[in-house]
Amino acid sequence: MEETIKKSARKNPVESQILVIFGSNGDLSRRKLLPAVFQLYLDNLLSENFAIVGTGSQEKDEVANRIDVASALLEFAKSRTEEFPEKMQDFLQHVYYQKVNNQAEEDFGVLKTYIDNLSAKLAIPKNIIYYFSIPPFLYEVVAAHLIKHGLNTETDGWKRIIVEKPFGYSYDTAIDLDTKLRSGFNEDQIYRIDHYLGKETVQNIMVTRFSNGFFEPIWNRKYVDRIEITASEKIGVGNRGGYYDSSGAMRDMIQNHLLQVLAVVAMEPPSIFESESIRNESVKVLQSLRPIKSTEVAENVVRGQYIETYVDDQVQKGYRQEKDVTPNSRTETFVAMRVFIDNWRWNDIPFYIRTGKQLPAHVTEVVIHLKPAPHQLFKQRCVAQSTNMIILRIHPDAGVAVDFGMKIPGAGYKVQNVNMAFHYSDLAQNKISEAYERLLLDCMIGDSTLYARADAVKASWKFVDPIIQAWKNNPEIPLYFYECNTWGPKEASNLFGHSDLKWRPPFKKFKDE
Ligand code: BG6
Repeated sequence: MEETIKKSARKNPVESQILVIFGSNGDLSRRKLLPAVFQLYLDNLLSENFAIVGTGSQEKDEVANRIDVASALLEFAKSRTEEFPEKMQDFLQHVYYQKVNNQAEEDFGVLKTYIDNLSAKLAIPKNIIYYFSIPPFLYEVVAAHLIKHGLNTETDGWKRIIVEKPFGYSYDTAIDLDTKLRSGFNEDQIYRIDHYLGKETVQNIMVTRFSNGFFEPIWNRKYVDRIEITASEKIGVGNRGGYYDSSGAMRDMIQNHLLQVLAVVAMEPPSIFESESIRNESVKVLQSLRPIKSTEVAENVVRGQYIETYVDDQVQKGYRQEKDVTPNSRTETFVAMRVFIDNWRWNDIPFYIRTGKQLPAHVTEVVIHLKPAPHQLFKQRCVAQSTNMIILRIHPDAGVAVDFGMKIPGAGYKVQNVNMAFHYSDLAQNKISEAYERLLLDCMIGDSTLYARADAVKASWKFVDPIIQAWKNNPEIPLYFYECNTWGPKEASNLFGHSDLKWRPPFKKFKDE
C-alpha cells in the first residue's frame, strides 16, 4: 500500500542508472547514503537495472568493498538488514568499487574506462549521478577532472552531480564554485543538497499552509506577531572539530538549513506545484532578507560557545577542549538572531532564529506566535497567559499543534491555555522516510524541487557573509560563553529588546506540553 502510494506519487520513472559515490568509504556514505539507497531498494523504488560504484583512495577489490558496504548496512540500517538478510545479499550484488584518488587527474581516465565497461557488461545506459561525499575543497577538483575526461557529456545518457553542503565558504567562494561547476554542467545537472529540505516534515509545512483554507489568511503581518525557528542539538561537535572550527554554527546550520526552513515558512504560494515555481518563491524570500550591517550585528545577532560543564557529576568537554579545535578558538557553537523580511507580507515582523550545540534537547521547530485578540476581555481571569501559537514541529514527534485559551469548566470564566496536537506519525503506516532517501530518489528521477538553486545559495550567503565578516573584523562584538545543557547565553534574550518576551522553551514532545 505504502509502496503503491510512493510509486504513484512519482512524476517520472526511475531510469536505469549508475550512482557513483565519491568518498564512499567516508562517514556520510556509510551512515546515510548507503542505508538510504538500500531502503529505496527494499521499497522497490530503484530501477531494475542499477549499479552503485563507490570510489575512494583505498585500494580494494569488489569482494572487500561488498564486505565494507555490508558492515555499514549492518551498523546503520540494522533493523532493515535483520529483517531482510537475503535482500541485503541481493543488494550487494549491485555494488561496485573503483579506487580513485580525487586529486589525481589520470584516475578519472581509469574511472571512465571502468564505467564504460560496467555499463556495457550490465547493459545500463550511461545515466549517471556523481555524488560528492567528499571534503568541500575537492568539489571543484573532482568536477574539473570529470569534465576533462568527458564524464559530464550527455550524448550517451544524462549526467547529474549532487554537491553536499557547505556550498562555498562565503559569498565569493560560492560564486566561484558555481562558475567552476557551470563550466561543465548546466544548472539543471547540479543538485545542491540540503538535507533539511528532504525532511518530510519540512515539506509538510508547504502542505499545511497551501492545502488548507484557514492557515493562510492569518499567515501574515496582520495576524502574526513574530516567528521563532529553533534547531537545538544535545550533542557537541564530537569528532568533527576540524571541519567545524572553520565553519561555526552560522555556516553549518543557518546559511543553509535554517534559512531554507525560513523560506518555506515565509514564501508566497507558488502558482503551480512545480520545481521552478516553488523555488522562485523561496528565493524571493531569501532575496528580501533585510541586510544586517556590521554596525547592527551586535544588536541583532548573539553568538555563543559552550564551555566545560559538570552535568550530573560528569564533566562535559568545552568546545575548546574538543579534538581538532584550536585552544583559543572564537568559533560560535550557538547563534540567535533577529531577522526581518522586507516584503508586503512580512514587513517589520521579526523572525527569531536560534541554533546551538550542547543544549538541553534535540528539537527543531517553527513557532508562529499570533497577535493577541484586540481586546482582552478575560485578561484578569487567565490562569496561564493566553497565547495563540501554531507550532510546526520538525523533530522529534513531528507534527502540528495549535495553542489557544479555553474556559476551565466550572463557575466563572477562568481561561487556560490548551493545545490541540496532530502527530505526524499517525499518518505514516510504517516509518517516515529519511531525508536522504527522498532526496536521492528525487535526483534519480530528475526532480530538483527539494534541492537548493544557485540563486538561493547566493542570496543566503549574501545575507550571512557581512555578519561573519563583522565578527571577524570586530573583536568588540562579544562571543558569549554558555554551559552545556543550558539554552545558550542568556544574552540571547536581549534580542527581544525591552519587551518581556522570551524564547519559547521547546518541550521534548507535544504530549508533554
Ligand atoms: C548538519 C550539520 O548539516 O546538520 C551538523 O553539519 C548538524 O552539525 C546536522 O548536527 C543537524 O541535522 P539534524 O537533521 O539532526 O537536525
